[in-house]
Amino acid sequence: MNEKIQLVKESFSNDLNLIVDMKTLNDVRVSYLGKKGKVTELSQMMKDIPNEDKKTFGMLLNEVRNYVTSEIENKKKALEEKALNEKLEKETIDITLPSKKVKRGSKHPMTRIEERFEDIFTSMGYTVYEGPEIESDENCFQKLNLPKGHAARDAQDTFYLKDEYENYLLRSQTSTAQVRAMEENEEKGPLRIVCPGKVYRRDEDATHSHQFMQIEGLVIDKDISMADLKGTLELFCKKILGEKTKVRFRPSYFPFTEPSVEVDVTCFKCGGKGCALCKQTGWIEVLGAGMVHPNVLEMSGYDSSKYQGFAFGTGMDRFAMFKYGITDIRTIYGNDIRFLEQFDRKDDE
Ligand code: DAH
Repeated sequence: MNEKIQLVKESFSNDLNLIVDMKTLNDVRVSYLGKKGKVTELSQMMKDIPNEDKKTFGMLLNEVRNYVTSEIENKKKALEEKALNEKLEKETIDITLPSKKVKRGSKHPMTRIEERFEDIFTSMGYTVYEGPEIESDENCFQKLNLPKGHAARDAQDTFYLKDEYENYLLRSQTSTAQVRAMEENEEKGPLRIVCPGKVYRRDEDATHSHQFMQIEGLVIDKDISMADLKGTLELFCKKILGEKTKVRFRPSYFPFTEPSVEVDVTCFKCGGKGCALCKQTGWIEVLGAGMVHPNVLEMSGYDSSKYQGFAFGTGMDRFAMFKYGITDIRTIYGNDIRFLEQFDRKDDE
C-alpha cells in the first residue's frame, strides 16, 4: 500500500514537468486532486486498510497531498509571475505619441486687466482693498463731499434700493471704498490701497454699460503732494500701456479732490499723431485724480492739518478696450465664448 503512495508521488514529480501554462496546470491538478484524481483515489482506499496500518498510511497520504497541493500552488505563482513579466516587457509606453488635446479655458479680459492693475500697484507697496457693491448713500456720496442735491450726482445716477433700504444703492464709483478704508483704519494713519470692483450707472451704449468695473487708488500720509500723484500715475500709465506713453495732466473738477486733474495719455493706436480713436487729438483721457479734499479726510476722522492724500480712479473696462482693441463694451459682459476665447494666451505685455 505504502508503495502505491510512493508511486503516486513519483508520477506527480514527473507530471510536474508537463505544466507549461494554466491549462496544463489545471489538467495535472485535476488528475491528482480532482474527484477521480490519484490522490483522491488513495484516500478512498483508507477504508480497506487494516486498522494497525491506518496510522502510517494516513501520515503518508497527508504528506503526499500536502506535497501535491503546495507544488501546484508554487507552479501557479511562478506562471502568474512569468505572465506578468512578459506583459510588462511587451507593454512599452510611447511617450512621443501626441496626447489627447486638453481643453483649456481662457482668462476673461477683465480678469486679465484687473490682475495687471493689481500687479503694478502691489509692486509699489499698495494693498488691495475691496468694498461691497451695495452701499449707503452716505458712503457713496455724502462722505465724498457730495451732499444730497449736489449737482455732480447727476452724472452718477444709479440703481436704488426700496422701502426700508431706500438709503442704499448700487455704488456708482469705487471711490466709496476710500471712505470705508479710512473709517476702518482706527489709527487714522497712512494708507496705500487700490480698490477694484464693479460699479453701476444708468447708462447703456457702445462705450457705457449699466455695470462696469473701476479701480480706485488712495494714498494718505504726511507730506503727500501733487508731485507724488504725478509720479505715481505717470509710472503706472507707462507700465500698463508701454514705456513710450506720454502722460498729460489737465485741471478738472471732482467734489472729493482739490485740486483735481484728468490724466490723458498719448493715443496708443497712432502714437500721438491723431486718428479716429483719439478723435485726431493724439490724446486719450484715462484717469481722474486729485489731492483728497480736506472735508473728505475730516468726515472719515482724519486730521487734515496733519495728513494729506491723493486719490485716483479709472474704468478698468476702458483699459481693457484699449489694450485688447475691443470696440464695444457690451461684448465684454456678453459672455460669448467665441469672443472670450480670442484672449487665450494673449500676452499682457
Ligand atoms: N470716482 C470718479 C468717477 O467715477 C473717478 C475719480 C476721479 C476717482 C478722481 C478719484 C479721483 O479718486 O480722485 O468718475
